[in-house]
Amino acid sequence: MDRVSLSVRRGEFFSLLGPSGCGKTTTLRLIAGFATPDSGELRINGTRANEVPPQRRDVNLVFQNYALFPHLTVERNVAFGLEIAGVRPADIAVRVRDALDMVQLNAVAARRPNQLSGGQQQRVALARALVTRPAVLLLDEPLGALDLKLRKDMQLELRALQKKLGLTFIHVTHDQEEALTLSDRLAVMHRGRVAQQGTPAELYERPATRFVADFLGESNFLEGEVVSAGAAGARARLDGLGAEVELAADGLRAGQRVTFALRPERVQLRTGGGGVPGWPATVEDVAYGGRDTRYRVAFLPGKSLLVRAPNAPRAQVGERVAVGWEPADLRLVSGD
Ligand SMILES: Nc1ncnc2c1ncn2[C@@H]1O[C@H](COP(=O)(O)OP(=O)(O)OP(=O)(O)O)[C@@H](O)[C@H]1O
Ligand SMILES: [Mg+2]
Repeated sequence: MDRVSLSVRRGEFFSLLGPSGCGKTTTLRLIAGFATPDSGELRINGTRANEVPPQRRDVNLVFQNYALFPHLTVERNVAFGLEIAGVRPADIAVRVRDALDMVQLNAVAARRPNQLSGGQQQRVALARALVTRPAVLLLDEPLGALDLKLRKDMQLELRALQKKLGLTFIHVTHDQEEALTLSDRLAVMHRGRVAQQGTPAELYERPATRFVADFLGESNFLEGEVVSAGAAGARARLDGLGAEVELAADGLRAGQRVTFALRPERVQLRTGGGGVPGWPATVEDVAYGGRDTRYRVAFLPGKSLLVRAPNAPRAQVGERVAVGWEPADLRLVSGD
């Protein structure tokens, strides 16, 4: 982990998103107190928590594999943390029932984990973490083991529960769509660092780096060179196209190489042969995707462009087409 700086607001659904090995679990372990940072400060509710032992932090962690006790009933699994903490048995019974109510599992309270579906086991793990009433709930890929349909259902349930209880959730996932749909804000991590943090729309529409543009959805990348830069703004010329683009960013100098990200759904594909405005391209691949059709078109020498376009009219492989985009859809991104 290197210079990771994050702030999560109270009551927020915050996601950590990134490829395997980028440091998501490590970040949760630092927050939970199972790992100690060798520099920097961790604050929970505004108070330094570096020296606070895990059991005294107002957080709880839900592990990816649920880590349920197979020999204990659902009820006892949920009660376990309260028993360890020495809560009075009468209070434990009430709190366990409340927690199981929240996740709609009271009907199976007497069963053991191996008598439950994957989604139900996931909810037991959630109830077990909620029962201790932490200010912050840390969730490490809580839906990772579920099939797609169940996963989608549980995503909605998870978010509804978080909003209802007003808890702060810090949720780890490597599924970019899940992070976008669930989160109030998210951070994209890359090689032990935070590449960018913000709302889903900010990150998707204004990715700061090439990595974020590529990891969050799909992107085309166009290279270019700054041709003029001054107080009034800068202009860049796109390689192979000669087209010039105005740049809002400052700190650029003439001659500097720049990279633009362009979302496939922002590329317009025009069929109809010669005379159609746009850059000439040839369709190399067509994949029907249900919501839209995904094309790969040969564009500049040695360069392909991904395009997402409505399902009809559909261009055929080998067809000559034209591609175009609004200059404002080109996003200047930095390297990693
Ligand atoms: N205790 C440890 N000591 C040394 N290196 C570790 C330790 N735990 C994890 N790492 C390394 O730190 C990096 C980040 O690991 P981490 O488990 O945080 O990744 P992750 O983002 O959760 O990945 P995944 O999506 O695969 O779970 C990895 O390169 C891993 O090998
Ligand atoms: Mg992990």
